[in-house]
Amino acid sequence: MAEGNRRRIVAGNWKMHGARAALEALASGLAARPANPSESAPEVAVFPPFPYLSAVKRALEAGQAEGGIAVRMGAQDVSAHTEGARTGEVSAPMLADCGCRYVLVGHSERRASCGETDEQVARKFVRAASESLIPVLCVGETLGERNAGRTAEVVLRQLEAVLERVGAGGFGTAVLAYEPVWAIGTGQTATPEQAQEVHAVLRAAIARADAKIAAALRILYGGSVKGANAAALFAQPDIDGGLVGGASLDLKDFWRIITA
Ligand code: PGA
Repeated sequence: MAEGNRRRIVAGNWKMHGARAALEALASGLAARPANPSESAPEVAVFPPFPYLSAVKRALEAGQAEGGIAVRMGAQDVSAHTEGARTGEVSAPMLADCGCRYVLVGHSERRASCGETDEQVARKFVRAASESLIPVLCVGETLGERNAGRTAEVVLRQLEAVLERVGAGGFGTAVLAYEPVWAIGTGQTATPEQAQEVHAVLRAAIARADAKIAAALRILYGGSVKGANAAALFAQPDIDGGLVGGASLDLKDFWRIITA
């Protein structure tokens, strides 16, 4: 159980997988699980591809209306701009309008394949937060950076770029996700100790600015989280849940993680 009364979050990042029918079925199956009134039950969220946000939202609401669990929804990216001539971009108000509560910013796949810089990620974070979405800021080092002993330096640089703009106050509602690039989609999970060490570094950086906000901040681990390893990861004092890719597309495995 996470310390500081932080409610755990288990979030499924569906990336660019699936099609409408399959993702609706996944959402319905998830939302049909019986609601657990216990205070220790985690918050559950899913991050579908943009075109399916509304369909997934409807499926989630239908399940909940029949006594199933509440599942929140987020988007996988957001524009740093509110509106205008920006072909292909999706704004924070549009996401909120589609029923999103969360949005990922700075996922390593976007940093790597779309060339998103720390600066752009910070602008997206600010835009999302100013439109009442909860940004989930993803940070993480590559294998080369880890092997060079630069893990803390890299994740702190990624965090600082945002912290500089929003101050600790900007993390009053936001969520952080530590996702070592070498663990994403590789089946090679960080050990609970490796992950805990980085989570503690991140929390300490926020604590230097505001101890209270740091104590309440939820920091998720992502990178090959599975039903089989979730409990050991979530047992670490600074790990407040998971951002789950591949395993979130398998209802049975995702549920095992949610109930870990
Ligand atoms: P994975 O992805 O669980 O498939 O490693 C995690 C993520 O990219 O958020």
